[in-house]
Amino acid sequence: MPFNKITPADISFFKSILEEKYVLADEENLSRCASDQTEDLHYLPEIALQPGTTEEVSKILKHCNDNNLPVTARGAGTGLSGGALPVFGGICLDMKRFNKILHVDKRNFQVTTEPGVITQELQEHLKAEGLFYPPDPASKGSCFIGGNVSENSGGPRAVKYGVVKDYVLNLEIVLANGEIMWTGANVLKNATGYNLTQLVVGSEGTLCIITKIVLRLIPAVKHDLLLLVPFRSAVEACAAVNAIFLAGYTPSALEFMERDALEWSMRYVQSTGINLPADIAAHLLIEVDGNHMEELYRDAEAISLIVQQYDIDEVLFADSHEQKQMLWTLRRKVGEAVKSNSIYKEEDTVVPRAELPELLKVIKELGAEYGFRSVCYGHAGDGNLHVNIVKGDMSDEDWQTKLPQGIRKLFKEVVRMGGTLSGEHGIGLVQKEYMDIAFNEVQMSLMRQIKQVFDPKGILNPGKILMNV
Ligand code: LAC
Ligand code: ZN
Repeated sequence: MPFNKITPADISFFKSILEEKYVLADEENLSRCASDQTEDLHYLPEIALQPGTTEEVSKILKHCNDNNLPVTARGAGTGLSGGALPVFGGICLDMKRFNKILHVDKRNFQVTTEPGVITQELQEHLKAEGLFYPPDPASKGSCFIGGNVSENSGGPRAVKYGVVKDYVLNLEIVLANGEIMWTGANVLKNATGYNLTQLVVGSEGTLCIITKIVLRLIPAVKHDLLLLVPFRSAVEACAAVNAIFLAGYTPSALEFMERDALEWSMRYVQSTGINLPADIAAHLLIEVDGNHMEELYRDAEAISLIVQQYDIDEVLFADSHEQKQMLWTLRRKVGEAVKSNSIYKEEDTVVPRAELPELLKVIKELGAEYGFRSVCYGHAGDGNLHVNIVKGDMSDEDWQTKLPQGIRKLFKEVVRMGGTLSGEHGIGLVQKEYMDIAFNEVQMSLMRQIKQVFDPKGILNPGKILMNV
């Protein structure tokens, strides 16, 4: 920094390596690349480039590095922390042409894919081969696997199967200066030097550009069952989460939805058949999976007995494909439903699982103190609560000045409980001002030095994760 503006000479260079139709400066494409799913933020790039090969990415980066031009990689634009926003203008590196699944290695339970493949399409392709790639972010029908790796995404199944980082074995990357390299090896164990692969996972496009991904897979699981449990107290719903684990069960999903979350989502799904009595404060959506139906029925039965120790209404037991689909659609639509309800801010707090009831209490207390209303939902089994703060009738002044103080206090409480700022959405643009709460100066300095080693001129996704970088 400071960066140069893109000149006609730069554009001629880009047209010398990419076909003209992949060098885009029209309003529609620039506007598409200006936002993701984070609030209503909008930052126009100066140009969007759509490379199709690693070599093209390499030539683009080398040119940008030599000429001090900022480069922001973009997947499907479903991110929730502003990771894909080109806040300094410059180049949007649109990775949508990297859309090929390159090799399914069935013998070794691995897949090599390009980053622009839609996650659900990858999962379905693998399922047809009897293979399972579990991480399933809510946006799985539209997000790209490359974005998932860049943000270290999670999703409902993380509670049993882990998040994206647990499946990434090796990455082909392009460094800021254009050099192409692999980060590791296609092996299940690796104690060979520093773990560059995991350093890149979750680095939000700030260290390098990912051009190939090797993922570990597991055998497909045959069956699942789903329960929807209505609680009269939201804090009790959070407490029930840990009781299930302490009794020795590991559900394949354990999701929490406050009443408003479910109610608003129900407006988007036809004929749910769900009855929502006035005294219900929250629901848990609990899935168990495995290969033997009798065991699953036994587990589901045992879990319903555990939740009956709390003040609950009737448990909805879904075993038909349609009913399960409907419940999952309801759950996946919560984010969208909350967003279309009001101007909002979404936090992605995560605490050790047993602290979940305390986290919910603190959120509500801070809401009362700072005058905000929140709708919480998320991956309770992971201690990961999405806190949607809705603007409602809060004044613009309070929204701009008082709310950030409330959020700061919330994050301090989260850290006090042993938690941290983001479980799966990343820091990106919108959470970076709070990083000092999670890390001290020694830790921040180490992160800045890592950034400096990978990207000495700071051209890759500037303005993200770290302040003033
Ligand atoms: C979800 C997204 C917002 O869990 O992470 O719905
Ligand atoms: Zn989530």
